[in-house]
Amino acid sequence: MNEGNVLPKLPDYKDNAELYELEEKSRPDEMAMINTAGDIAIQLLNNLNNSNVLDICCGTGLSMEKFVNHPSISKIVGLDISQEYLDFAKKKYSNLSNPPIFIKGDAIEEDLPDYKWNIIMMASAYHHIENDRKLHFLKRISNLLGKNGYGIIAENILPKYNIDDEKDYSRSVKLFYNEVLKTTKLLNPDTCERALDLIKRVAKYGIDGEYEYKVSLDILLHHIDCSGLTIIKQNKVWPNSGALSKTNAGNYVFLVKNNILCDEK
Ligand SMILES: C[S@@+](CC[C@H](N)C(=O)[O-])C[C@H]1O[C@@H](n2cnc3c(N)ncnc32)[C@H](O)[C@@H]1O
Repeated sequence: MNEGNVLPKLPDYKDNAELYELEEKSRPDEMAMINTAGDIAIQLLNNLNNSNVLDICCGTGLSMEKFVNHPSISKIVGLDISQEYLDFAKKKYSNLSNPPIFIKGDAIEEDLPDYKWNIIMMASAYHHIENDRKLHFLKRISNLLGKNGYGIIAENILPKYNIDDEKDYSRSVKLFYNEVLKTTKLLNPDTCERALDLIKRVAKYGIDGEYEYKVSLDILLHHIDCSGLTIIKQNKVWPNSGALSKTNAGNYVFLVKNNILCDEK
């Protein structure tokens, strides 16, 4: 991303499942986050029976890939707004003996089956919810989890910026994605130009304030706190070198639960 240069027309992964997965799988930072989130889900499932799992903003089903066939799962539901992604996910898992149920709808508004949810996966979900709905989103998660459920939040966290300054926000998004591109080129040197352009497309959505609404760590932590959730475990999975490594920006996985000190839900 060269500041000042006009970017050539970038390919778009929005509602295009193959391009979305190409972009994600090219990125070591993103796969480290999804894999860690999946490992945490497996650890939880290993200690559960007959569990109900919700993957909210499940997209193409990448975020459930590691645990979708875990024997402790009774019901697994994927919710997403994109029919194209859901069709892809449905096909991908159609051969499983206990395939996921996919529901198309909004993460906050859509009615869900009245299950007791043991685990809710939120991989890159919070940053797709518009800023003024983020707290509603986490409050919904808190309600769905009840007393005993666990939430897994996997998120890209931006370097701190001035919230009243659009240019400073763009600077933060660019800094984040320049580091993503550096990591990708370093660890996956054979990554094709198309995949690199798809990564630039993610950055452009963020800069344009469209489809991608990433925030800094203080905002996410504040929303978690206000929603009634509490963090049990926090794992920063990327980066461990480069410009972001000495900041609190990067990719995180949080394990959350309802705060038992709060009023009964
Ligand atoms: C970055 S993708 C994450 C997909 C998947 N969890 C993963 O980790 O690969 C974000 C997903 O959120 C979905 N999405 C965006 N806004 C949504 C909304 N309001 N309600 C439900 N899904 C939404 C998009 O369609 C997209 O599939």
